[in-house]
Amino acid sequence: MANVLRWIPLILFSTSVLASDAMKRGQSDPIFSAYYTGWHAEDYPLSDVSWSKYTHVIYSVASTTPNASVVEVDVPDDTLLKQFVTLAHQNNVKASLSIGGWTASRWYSSNVGSAINRTTFVNTVTTLAKKYDLDGLDFDWEYPGMQGIGCNTVNPKDTANFLSFLQQLRTTTTGSKLIISVPVAAPFADASGSPSTNVSAFGDVLDYITVMNYDTGSNPSFGVGPNSPLDDLCAPVSGQRSSAARLVDAWSAAGMHLDQIVLGVPAYGYGYSVSKKLAFTSGSILAPYPAYNVSNTPPGDKWSGVGGIDVCGISEGPGGEYTYWGLMEEGFLNTDGTTKTGIAYRYDNCSQTPYMYNATSQVYVSFDNAQSFAAKGDFIHSKGLRGFSMWEAGGDYNDTLLDSISVSFRLLQYRLLTPVLQGRQL
Ligand SMILES: *[C@@H]1O[C@H](CO)[C@@H](O)[C@H](O)[C@H]1NC(C)=O
Ligand SMILES: *[C@@H]1O[C@H](CO)[C@@H](O)[C@H](O)[C@H]1NC(C)=O
Ligand SMILES: *[C@@H]1O[C@H](CO)[C@@H](O)[C@H](O)[C@H]1NC(C)=O
Ligand SMILES: *[C@@H]1O[C@H](CO)[C@@H](O)[C@H](O)[C@H]1NC(C)=O
Ligand SMILES: *[C@@H]1O[C@H](CO)[C@@H](O)[C@H](O)[C@H]1NC(C)=O
Ligand SMILES: *[C@@H]1O[C@H](CO)[C@@H](O)[C@H](O)[C@H]1NC(C)=O
Ligand SMILES: *[C@@H]1O[C@H](CO)[C@@H](O)[C@H](O)[C@H]1NC(C)=O
Repeated sequence: MANVLRWIPLILFSTSVLASDAMKRGQSDPIFSAYYTGWHAEDYPLSDVSWSKYTHVIYSVASTTPNASVVEVDVPDDTLLKQFVTLAHQNNVKASLSIGGWTASRWYSSNVGSAINRTTFVNTVTTLAKKYDLDGLDFDWEYPGMQGIGCNTVNPKDTANFLSFLQQLRTTTTGSKLIISVPVAAPFADASGSPSTNVSAFGDVLDYITVMNYDTGSNPSFGVGPNSPLDDLCAPVSGQRSSAARLVDAWSAAGMHLDQIVLGVPAYGYGYSVSKKLAFTSGSILAPYPAYNVSNTPPGDKWSGVGGIDVCGISEGPGGEYTYWGLMEEGFLNTDGTTKTGIAYRYDNCSQTPYMYNATSQVYVSFDNAQSFAAKGDFIHSKGLRGFSMWEAGGDYNDTLLDSISVSFRLLQYRLLTPVLQGRQL
């Protein structure tokens, strides 16, 4: 199937049907991407990656440091990253390196904080790209102009400085050829801390942004909501903050082309402690947005953070995360994705995400499955977005999520745009 899937877009995008701005910019190739995390390499070795199903892969993660001359690629990432790039290239897949993320964005602000620092940082990242033969860099700054983990350097000029940095990077020989991507939440904060209303200059220098449609839907003030909502119009008002539709609309309204927006999708969910009384509306029907016990986060699966002291020196509780495969190991799902006997299930048509509940352990899980990933593929197509990027490749089981979103995204393109191809097996 993979080979057939691979050539269809080539045909699609060679037709005049899609002669859009994107084609003129040479950016119309769809993106089927995922992150690969070095710290899970023992459980999920590079040989397990379904290379043929991706167009792009991103290695996570390298860290910013107080010194703009240094971006840290730790041992064993150094060795793994080289193997990652080699394998990606053997499979005709573009390989990027992600810099930053939740824990390693601490020094972005100062690294781009002055003209001298930007020049140094440009030199650092282009040297890094050459050293590892990278096709791209993914600047995962969480977040310009806003605090993230709690001890990042932050400056009201972050967003402007970030733009200057990217523009300067593009003037270099190496930087002009790199695939430059940025994972994002709301449009970057402007000097007053509000979401930027005009990001078109970023569109000129980035290949694409990845809208991180995860970690958003639950809050002690309104209960357990979707981890990755397509829409949040059915959420309590205070929960209407960060759906795929909302984020895409915000970036688009601020001037980012839709074909430069990739949807970030999670191969994981979260568990919450919910009493039986609150978990059900009546009988075996699961209640939406049940209240949960914030002091009793379930342990999650074996990849879930156990908590401890973070990089800021702050004590963190457990994460309560379940990868898709972890939901099988922890007694929620069968390997074919159906729920185990005794697990209550609800699919929310509004957010297009599923929930489950184990009444014995009293764990209520908000997650994603094949159905919600198909809905996401459909959304990507119907909005005209560029593609998807899954966090993280190793969270899937037997490519259930990856195949679902890929087929849904591609099948629709195929049906609508290439009637002559209909009848061929997908
Ligand atoms: C920053 O890193 C560079 C390269 O390793 C080094 O030469 C320089 O001394 C460092 N600067 C400081 C202030 O540590
Ligand atoms: C530039 O980088 C240095 C460290 O090399 C840092 O001390 C300084 O604060 C940075 N400048 C700005 C304006 O962020
Ligand atoms: C957005 O900014 C660009 C320059 O970066 C400018 O050319 C354009 O006119 C602006 N658009 C709007 C709607 O203000
Ligand atoms: C919440 O969890 C804590 C820790 O397990 C427990 O002590 C407390 O009784 C729970 N609260 C409720 C309302 O169940
Ligand atoms: C949700 O959508 C599915 C698929 O379209 C449909 O079968 C189901 O009846 C819907 N449920 C509700 C409650 O609307
Ligand atoms: C539910 O949780 C209990 C207690 O942790 C566990 O023994 C069981 O396997 C889980 N799954 C089902 C389907 O009951
Ligand atoms: C993986 O999925 C395929 C269908 O795509 C199925 O035939 C196979 O049994 C699954 N394997 C496992 C181990 O679940």
